[in-house]
Amino acid sequence: MINDISRVLLTEEQIRSRVAQLGEELAKDYEGKTPIFVGILKGAITFFSDVVRATPIPCEYDFMAVSSYGAATISSGKIDLIKDLGTDIKGRHVVILEDILDTGHTLKFVTELLAQREPASVKLCVLLDKPERREVPIYADYIGFTIPNEFVVGYGLDYNEVYRNIPFVGVLDPKVYKK
Ligand code: IMP
Ligand code: MG
Repeated sequence: MINDISRVLLTEEQIRSRVAQLGEELAKDYEGKTPIFVGILKGAITFFSDVVRATPIPCEYDFMAVSSYGAATISSGKIDLIKDLGTDIKGRHVVILEDILDTGHTLKFVTELLAQREPASVKLCVLLDKPERREVPIYADYIGFTIPNEFVVGYGLDYNEVYRNIPFVGVLDPKVYKK
């Protein structure tokens, strides 16, 4: 598995220290608000679990699943809801946690869907932002790292559902997906 990684982009230590900063920011911004942290399955799982533990304030968890890439490395732009929230978010402060903001289609779909339910606020927190790839205007409120336009895996991010359990973020060798 590790042989398919051409380069380490973010080490475990870099991720740990940035996640700690994000947690401090979130704790400061949401003190007294008991936010609902919404993780987008499955890619956000690792980031979610680290961020919430770095945010020492009362909060709730919920999860959504949407289809995005399927098996390819390019976004189709068509998003389907696979699993909805189990919580009524009306009047609540929602923070969406996602692994990566790429073309923006996924998070546009999710934020518009949740905004219809009249939450008090909806903000976006992403581990990675690839601004060069954006196709729709959407911005994250909290960004771990801005990265170049390369396909990355690890720390929750997959290619064909594999590589999520690599503990750092690495660039996937294009030989894996280019014939
Ligand atoms: P978007 O809708 O194009 O913004 O894509 C968001 C989804 O595409 C993410 O939740 C990821 O699952 C996937 N994705 C985008 N870029 C990468 C990448 O570099 N590696 C792995 N998955 C990615
Ligand atoms: Mg994926």
